[in-house]
Amino acid sequence: MIIPGPSSQTLSSRVARITGRKLALCDYQQFPDGETYIRIHDDIVGKDVTIIQSTPNDSDYIALLQLIDACDTARSVNVVIPYMGYARQDKRFKCGEPISARALARCIHADRVLTINIHDESILASFDAKTQNLDATPLLGSYIKSLELDSPVFIAPDASAFPLARHAARSQGHGGSDDENTCEYDYLEKTRHSGDTVTIAPKKLDVAGRNIVIIDDIISTGGTMATTIELLKDQGAGKVYLACVHPVLARNGTVRLYRAGVEEIVGTDTLEKAVSIVSVASLIAEAV
Ligand code: R5P
Repeated sequence: MIIPGPSSQTLSSRVARITGRKLALCDYQQFPDGETYIRIHDDIVGKDVTIIQSTPNDSDYIALLQLIDACDTARSVNVVIPYMGYARQDKRFKCGEPISARALARCIHADRVLTINIHDESILASFDAKTQNLDATPLLGSYIKSLELDSPVFIAPDASAFPLARHAARSQGHGGSDDENTCEYDYLEKTRHSGDTVTIAPKKLDVAGRNIVIIDDIISTGGTMATTIELLKDQGAGKVYLACVHPVLARNGTVRLYRAGVEEIVGTDTLEKAVSIVSVASLIAEAV
């Protein structure tokens, strides 16, 4: 049975449809003091259940923990966390800080935990479960391919996103060997100064008049992408498309990006937003 969490209702429904499994009906409510109330209406005793719940906000974590607890009589519990909040605090950047990703992962006990392009795979070791991290970049790559852009260049805004640019570029599939299949791809050097300001080191790229696809795991405030767009536009880039797995798009992120001149923002439904054009349901369905 698929148990949908409040933040992943559409994605859960899609996974249920693809797998032919029953979609549980759950209540998600708040008590007058703001506490979260969850109830699964279907009988899960002795069943194999898959809970699907992204955790962009603190209350989403609470809902996930409650759903796991509500499934204590199930035969097995798979937990899918399509977007894991706090995953970027995967180390102690300053003395006295918690490793938030570890703290939250340690609360989750299940038979199996699946994530999608988790910010850093080292976090997986902190779950009390068998884990698997799925890669949605070929799905993003296929969508970009459907746009039939003329020889696009895939750019990662920093070194950690470079594998994403490579995977997406390789999925453009012009036929032949891997090298022949691959569109051009490159990466930039980003330095983060605060939550919403970054600088990108200048780098001479062959982008004049070309279609560009900038790809990253997360777009949060849009600062990284907006700065990258400016740098590429200064070098004469043509149309710029943005692709990300997790469209957090906090605050005024969407507007920042359109002001910077983006043609289209493409995200996946790990977070259910207006730009979540690509669904990761098939990826999850195959894994469960
Ligand atoms: C950070 O390392 C991530 O990969 C993203 O680059 C980052 O989360 C984007 O954040 P923002 O949109 O706020 O610049």
